[in-house]
This record gives sequence, structure tokens and C-alpha cells, in this order.
Amino acid sequence: MNSKKYYIETYGCQMNEADSEIMAGLLERVNYTSTYLPEEADIILVNTCSVRQGADNRAIARLSQFKHLKKQNPDLLLGLVGCVAQRDKGKILEEKPFIDLVLGPDTYRQIPELLNKQELPFVDVHLSKQEVYDGLTPFRNTRVNAWVSIMRGCDKFCSYCIVPFTRGRERSRSVKSIVEEVRQAVSGGYIEVTLLGQNVNSYCYEENRFPDLLLTVAEIPGVKRIRFTSPHPEDVDEAMLEVMHEHENICKHIHLPLQAGSTKILKSMNRTYTQEEYLNLVDKIRKYMPGCGITTDIIVGFPGETQDDFNDTLYVMDQVVFDNAYMFKYSPRPNTSAAKLPDDVLGKEKSERLNAVIEKQKVHTLQKNKALIGTVQSILVDGVSKKDSNEKIGRTDTNKLVILKEGNADIGNIINVQIIDAAGVSLFGKIQ
Ligand code: SAH
Ligand code: SF4
Ligand code: F3S
Repeated sequence: MNSKKYYIETYGCQMNEADSEIMAGLLERVNYTSTYLPEEADIILVNTCSVRQGADNRAIARLSQFKHLKKQNPDLLLGLVGCVAQRDKGKILEEKPFIDLVLGPDTYRQIPELLNKQELPFVDVHLSKQEVYDGLTPFRNTRVNAWVSIMRGCDKFCSYCIVPFTRGRERSRSVKSIVEEVRQAVSGGYIEVTLLGQNVNSYCYEENRFPDLLLTVAEIPGVKRIRFTSPHPEDVDEAMLEVMHEHENICKHIHLPLQAGSTKILKSMNRTYTQEEYLNLVDKIRKYMPGCGITTDIIVGFPGETQDDFNDTLYVMDQVVFDNAYMFKYSPRPNTSAAKLPDDVLGKEKSERLNAVIEKQKVHTLQKNKALIGTVQSILVDGVSKKDSNEKIGRTDTNKLVILKEGNADIGNIINVQIIDAAGVSLFGKIQ
């Protein structure tokens, strides 16, 4: 008899990618196998993101596209999981009664028991203070990099952000279980691990803080590269920079979300640092690690953002010259404290500001990339180029994408390449 099949589609951040691998692991354990074809599946799970209204709409639209599959397979289970499920709770069922499962991010452990459940739909969106999915083996969907979530939830409550409401309170996994998972990943052939958390550097388990954990992971034999995302500027300390500086296998890249350059807007966002403190932190990072890649997130058009405030964002970008940035228009989210403020930057103005930061970042990314032409970089080859299957791609220590014209590099190897050109966000390399 053919085994039953599952299909999982994932939106949102890397935490969702990691959670989907946990769900896949749970399904594999009860002999379900993965399929890339939704029409073949016995269970479809759409793991959703609610961080901006656009992401939210996309997830729900996607689920509706699977409804017709129930005609040919009446036993098909359709599940809405993740942050939209958590935000929406069971309300979506009034509009979309064809959905069978609504599961929030802390309720995945029970998925195997739900496969034969008679009374549907089933909704569980309770948020846990303990659940960190310890003891479960993720079924990894990647070839080179292993996602390892080390903490869940967020207690920062930035005023615009829905994450503390969809992911609940901060909690950290034990060092022992993280080390076990990393060892398992290494023995499965993974040489790069990315430590994940909504606020990864708030990690705290017993007396172990984030720098202690970084050090422990760096010393596990076989771990060639360690990355982490996303840290909060408030929790970046000298101990963290010191450990990064001292361990070659900790990648020299920090994603340091700025959000806004104006101290007034930062205060209203509840970001806990001023423009000056952010710039000082960048200086400190560069003192420890001069070539460290620094990337960021920027929101334009937050309530009350005047042209002067926005100019402060451009000013900080010019001061730092980020290697790359994710840039967004402010989108009011339910329950957040900013949602009570008037969304007073006009749509047209938001679009113009977004274009302005995108254009500036393009120039900066190219400037940073061009500075690498002629240098030799060590890259981890992690895949085949989407544009040309004869080309391989890899990432530098600082997380820059390098395209290799020669297709003979082996995926999963770290090799030295000379950077020969830079265009857009990519670098072009030649094997040494
Ligand atoms: N925990 C991470 C990521 C949070 S979500 C962190 O703190 O860095 C990723 C990014 O989405 C945020 O950094 C922010 O730039 C953006 N974002 C979050 N809420 C938003 C909103 N309401 N409107 C627009 N962008 C938002
Ligand atoms: Fe959201 Fe702020 Fe928490 Fe990041 S730190 S997840 S932006 S509340
Ligand atoms: Fe989105 Fe949830 Fe991640 S809202 S960004 S999937 S934590």
C-alpha cells in the first residue's frame, strides 16, 4: 500500500521554515512521506505569516486554492497553521468552513493524533510558556544549512509588531538539547547551522546566555559555519562580539534591524535605542570585526514620521552603508499598540519613501560588493543558480551571494574563490 503523503507550504521567517521541518518530522514518524504535489497529498499544511497585511492576505488566498482538491479526495485534511492561525483563532472557519485544522505555533506536537480525528474542524491556538519542541527530530528540507531554533517567542513588544501576540512569551531551549540537535545535524552531513529565535540574542537558559551558547556550539566538532538570526540591538554585548571575533567558524555577519533612523520614531516604536546608540553599536561591531557584514530591516511611514524623521533614516543608512536591507512600508497590525495611532503617512508618501530607501540601498550594496573585486573569499557552495543550472552559488562568510560560472564546485564544500565582478546584489567568483 502506498504510504500517505503530506504537503507543507511555508511563508514568513526562518522560524516558520524550522517549524515546518518539525511538523514534517512528526509526520514522517507516523510513516507519512513528503510530496511536492498538493494534489497527491492526504494532508496539506499552509504555515503562515501575519507580520504585514500583505503576507496575511496571501496565506489565506493560498489555502482557498486548495479547496477544490477535496472533490477528488474527500478525506484530505487542510490545515491553516502558524501566525495567521494564531492571530485569527477559529474566526476564519466562518468564512472558510472547508478548513479542517487551525493550529497556532505552539500546538504542533499533536499533529499525529489529529490525522485520524473524526470531529473536524479542530482548532488549537493556545500559546505555551514552555513549548520549545525539545526531543523532536526535524525532517530537514535543506541540503547544506541546518536551522536550529534555540528560543521561541518575543517579549520586546515593538509597538508595530504582531510577533509577540502570534508567538507568545520568550522561552529558551536547554543547552543540552541544542547541542544534541547540532551534533545530529553534523552527523547528517550539515556543516552550517543557523541558530534561530525571534530575538535570538535574548537567549537565556539557566546561567547560559547567548554568548555562552555561541561558544558551546562553536566548539562542537564538524561545525564549519555558524550563523544566527535575528538579534536585537539592545542585546548585542561585548561578550557576543568577543566570541564572534575569536571563533573562525562563527560567520562575520550580523543582521541588526534598525527600523528607523529618527530617535523620536524609535521611541514611539519602543525600540529601546537612540540613533546615536545604534551608530555607536555599529562602530563597536566594526572595531571587533572590521569586515563584518551588517544587514538591516527598515520600516518607512510609521505613524508620525515626518520628512525630517525619514531623512534621519537616510542619514543612518549613509553613515553605516549596510551590506543589504529588507525594507517595508508600515502596515498596522491588530492588537499592537501602534495600531491605535493614526496611520497618517499617506500611501503615496509611503511608496515614495520606500523607493528612496530601496534606491539608496542598491547603491550601497553595489558599493560594498565592488570593494570585494579582486579579493579571495571562502564560500560555502550551497546550490545551483536559478537562472542557469550550469552555475553554482555559494555564500561568503559575510553572507553575500557569489555566482560561480564554473559548475564543477561540489555543493556542501567550502572553497576559495576570487571575486571577479559585482552586479546588483550578486558577486561573481572564479574558483582558485
Ligand atoms: N524578530 C525579528 C523579525 C521581526 S519581523 C526582529 O526583531 O528582527 C521582520 C521585520 O518585519 C521587522 O524587523 C520589521 O522591519 C518588519 N515589520 C514587523 N512588523 C511590521 C509592520 N507592522 N509593518 C511593516 N513592517 C513590519
Ligand atoms: Fe517584533 Fe520587535 Fe520582537 Fe522583533 S523584537 S519580533 S520586531 S516585537
Ligand atoms: Fe511572520 Fe510569524 Fe515569522 S508573523 S515573520 S512567520 S514569527
